[in-house]
Amino acid sequence: MRTIDLFISRVCIARCIIAAMWTRRRFIFKVFVLTISLLICLAIFLSKFVFPVPKLSDTEISRYQERNLTPNVDSKGTPILLWWSSIYSNIVDDVKTFGTVQCRVTNNRTLRNNPDSKVFIFYGSHFEPYDLPLPRHKNHLWALIHEESPKNVYILNHENTITLFNFTSTFQRHSNYPITTQWLKCPDWLWETTFMVSLEEKNRLRNIEGLAPILYVHSDCHTPSDRDSFVAMLQKYIKIDSYGVCLNNKKLPESLRFRGSMVAMESDEFLKFVGRYKFSIAIENAVCEDYITEKLWRPLRVGSVPIVFGSPSVRDFLPNNHSAILVQDFRSVAELAQYVEYLDTHDEKYAMYLRFKKRKIKNNFLQDILRKRDWQASKDCKTFRTKHNSFIYGFEEFVCKEMHEFERYMNQTGPRFEKKIASLLHYNCPEPKRFDKLGRYTVRDREWLREWTDARYEAVVMWNLYSNNRTVQPDVFVQMVKSEKEKYARNIHKLKI
Ligand SMILES: *[C@@H]1O[C@H](CO)[C@@H](O)[C@H](O)[C@H]1NC(C)=O
Ligand SMILES: *[C@@H]1O[C@H](CO)[C@@H](O)[C@H](O)[C@H]1NC(C)=O
Ligand SMILES: *[C@@H]1O[C@H](CO)[C@@H](O)[C@H](O)[C@H]1NC(C)=O
Ligand SMILES: *[C@@H]1O[C@H](CO)[C@@H](O)[C@H](O)[C@H]1NC(C)=O
Ligand SMILES: *[C@@H]1O[C@H](CO)[C@@H](O)[C@H](O)[C@H]1NC(C)=O
Repeated sequence: MRTIDLFISRVCIARCIIAAMWTRRRFIFKVFVLTISLLICLAIFLSKFVFPVPKLSDTEISRYQERNLTPNVDSKGTPILLWWSSIYSNIVDDVKTFGTVQCRVTNNRTLRNNPDSKVFIFYGSHFEPYDLPLPRHKNHLWALIHEESPKNVYILNHENTITLFNFTSTFQRHSNYPITTQWLKCPDWLWETTFMVSLEEKNRLRNIEGLAPILYVHSDCHTPSDRDSFVAMLQKYIKIDSYGVCLNNKKLPESLRFRGSMVAMESDEFLKFVGRYKFSIAIENAVCEDYITEKLWRPLRVGSVPIVFGSPSVRDFLPNNHSAILVQDFRSVAELAQYVEYLDTHDEKYAMYLRFKKRKIKNNFLQDILRKRDWQASKDCKTFRTKHNSFIYGFEEFVCKEMHEFERYMNQTGPRFEKKIASLLHYNCPEPKRFDKLGRYTVRDREWLREWTDARYEAVVMWNLYSNNRTVQPDVFVQMVKSEKEKYARNIHKLKI
């Protein structure tokens, strides 16, 4: 980004000089043109340098990224930010400075009744509805971070649960600290060409080596998005090389076998492997608004055109309006296959899908998000320098600052603090479905639907416990959910009679 900025400012200066020399008219006109040009240059300069990306010195950056893991006992009075269901696997107890404010960040649960404990943070994947930090003092702020797949944590998708939280950090753009682009670890991946294979070579691989046009590599074959059924249908019309456990028809090279970890899938070798394919299946495991993962970003990174299904509004996050094939744009799987085949045999049309790689990223919404995000998920990113090397620390800062604002308001030393309560918009996973015979995601799926609706009973029981300041053992909770469900079934039955 800095090189672009420099370039822009140079162009600016050049334009000003040219403007001044070019004008051979009256002096006043000359001054007028010069002033306007200078003002425009100044505006561009300010917008690029001053406003969106705060420049930090090296010491500031290292201070933000520093982790002091020695338990801190002399921190009385420092507000505590307590990870209740922790995202950290080790013990953390740490006074962190975020600009002008400080918080003691810890996951030591024995501090729950400490008067300094002001914020409780919950990690979605470890959320235990039967074991909440109760009673909740009226000034206790609760925060939720959930970066993993929403599948299996459907309880968060219910009003009773999500409204417990004052702040969230989820894949949803409406969350307080959204991490929709978390899997686009470096923004420069969008225009990176390291792993791209020329179209000529792709055609050779297709014709001589017998590669299929489409790549599929998955090992989670049973998902609420019904991914495998769709790919199986598509496979009837067009060849797909499937290397994962799901619908496997080809062997991965030995060096790329996963061995239960994702590491191999981030290796350069795997990226090169994907880059050889013209198209890649990019279907998420759950269909939720704004739930977007590496399944989309990886093919975009290596220049394999993604065939996308997942967030219904995924278009908002694509580099430009012609960089992916969206399943939802086709009336049937046959039509989609026909289109892919057409692109496979029409080089010019295919190449249009990769034009964004030449820095033709037209999506201002996406650019704005990437420019403003204050975390980065990989140390190797070239373009942007950010305060935090993980959105987890970024969220800690966000929540710590909000809490200080709230405290100042309560102490009557700060401005009004508007109540903040999360809503269903912060999660937004509609009921899971299945594909019909034509390949449209419209059929109610009884199995996943059961998990989805059962979470409603969990949410009701959780709410009753919460209102009564009660915590219970997990097995008791399971029993309570069961009887809640039976009660509901009985009532429905009565209504029918
Ligand atoms: C947690 O905090 C308590 C004091 O509240 C302390 O005695 C205990 O050692 C701490 N636990 C760990 C693992 O640091
Ligand atoms: C895509 O964007 C270009 C310019 O950015 C515009 O001219 C074109 O109409 C858009 N196409 C679609 C299908 O929206
Ligand atoms: C609020 O008041 C308490 C007690 O007077 C004080 O300890 C605390 O630092 C104050 N907090 C803020 C954010 O001003
Ligand atoms: C935090 O959330 C709780 C639960 O929804 C709510 O009662 C409380 O008023 C909220 N606090 C603030 C400061 O918004
Ligand atoms: C739960 O605890 C809160 C805070 O101590 C208290 O105000 C409330 O009355 C309690 N509720 C019940 C049902 O005991």
